[in-house]
Amino acid sequence: MKNIPFGPTYEEMLHPEKIDKDIREKALQAKEDEFDAYNLFNITWKKPDNTVNKIVLPKALTGVEANIVVLLGKDFPSGSHKVGPAYSTLIEGAVDGDVVPGTHRILGPSTGNFGIGVSYICNLMGYDATVIMPDNMSKERYDRIQHYGADLDLTPGTESDVILTLEKTFKLAKEENNVSLAQFELLPNYRFHRYVTGKSAIEAVKGIGNERISLFTSAPGSAGTIGAGDEIKAAFPEAKVTALEPYECSTLTDGGRGQHRIEGIGDKMCTLIHNVLTTDFITLIPDDDAVRGLKIIQDGTDVLVEMGLEKSEAEALRDIFGVSTICNILGAIKMAKHLKLGPEENVVTVATDSFDRYDSVIEDLENRYLETEDYVLRRWFKDIFLRADTSDITDFRSSERKEQLFKQKEKDWLKFGYSKAYLDAMREMKFWDAEYEKVFDYNELIAKYRKQ
Ligand SMILES: Cc1ncc(COP(=O)(O)O)c(C=O)c1O
Repeated sequence: MKNIPFGPTYEEMLHPEKIDKDIREKALQAKEDEFDAYNLFNITWKKPDNTVNKIVLPKALTGVEANIVVLLGKDFPSGSHKVGPAYSTLIEGAVDGDVVPGTHRILGPSTGNFGIGVSYICNLMGYDATVIMPDNMSKERYDRIQHYGADLDLTPGTESDVILTLEKTFKLAKEENNVSLAQFELLPNYRFHRYVTGKSAIEAVKGIGNERISLFTSAPGSAGTIGAGDEIKAAFPEAKVTALEPYECSTLTDGGRGQHRIEGIGDKMCTLIHNVLTTDFITLIPDDDAVRGLKIIQDGTDVLVEMGLEKSEAEALRDIFGVSTICNILGAIKMAKHLKLGPEENVVTVATDSFDRYDSVIEDLENRYLETEDYVLRRWFKDIFLRADTSDITDFRSSERKEQLFKQKEKDWLKFGYSKAYLDAMREMKFWDAEYEKVFDYNELIAKYRKQ
């Protein structure tokens, strides 16, 4: 086997303190220059001091007793944690000999952040890349992909038309030397999140409440992140995992397939890598609540202070969330109420990216509403955060509801050539555990073959 491009193992992404000292130092210095390839060693939830990058939400914001802990994805290279699955898929392919720099062109089907991650790591690792995505996502996303040097291949529509991007990718992947990092289908995405995100979530609650996790909420796009729930459940069997969908695009709940404004989630399908066995609840969040919620956090510092947050708390919330983060937070609040979680109990959720790619979304909001003065934000704050209720929550623990999700998966994936037998294997937890165990093989292979 030839050497493969340079980069961390799963173990090093979870525990960057285990990276060779010299390399870690260079990686931390590389944060000054995002095109420095040592940034591959900054793909981690950990800060330079090796603690998890997170924020515990002020209770004056959430209105619930439980502690809501948000893991922050903004300091991942390229600005979102989606670079983790992109890197993991590429490095596994390199170890397996399936993707060779200079020979293969990488395809990244995406609604944005995965595409940004793919173009970024392909730049650092020497691969040509094409990102296939809908043509109606936020402008900041296209700018970043081009800044990192990938080609764009746009399909018509928005988030909810991602199936068109899959069909286009499926076609392009048939061409010689094209390799797709198919985030909706390939299990490195699951492995990254179950191992790296799941274990980081478990570390994140040390010193908070009862130091356990009662609830994990995640709005699936590819349903990679929600895989962290499997690791959380292995550590805390009482934990409940909740998937969140836009109210306007309730595909998992009841087959709904409308357009919505929460970029990165609600892709009108049950993705192949979604382990539906461990999804306990599915909860709907109106898309504009997520957008308006972001506006309040970003521009309503005075309003938040009036509503009981310390000034420093309100200021600390600025710039660290995106629209889907607010969806995740609103889902956490609704579910904490539904499950009646108390002050010792912890909820974990995730901020996939941060405000740096949503200026245009807030501009659009300001054009849609006649006024966004403080008195409007005050009303929105009460309606969206404090009055979040327990409506639109469906319990998916029964065998009938699981069957509904299996059937949705069949409808979405048999047409792409996956066999019924493969999909049926996913009905057993042992399928997911066996896929997860491959983390340990890849740890060894990546360490053995990477170029120093
Ligand atoms: C902003 C944003 N939020 C949430 C998600 C969903 O994460 P996952 O694909 O891991 O389900 C994505 C995925 O691209 C995203 O870009």
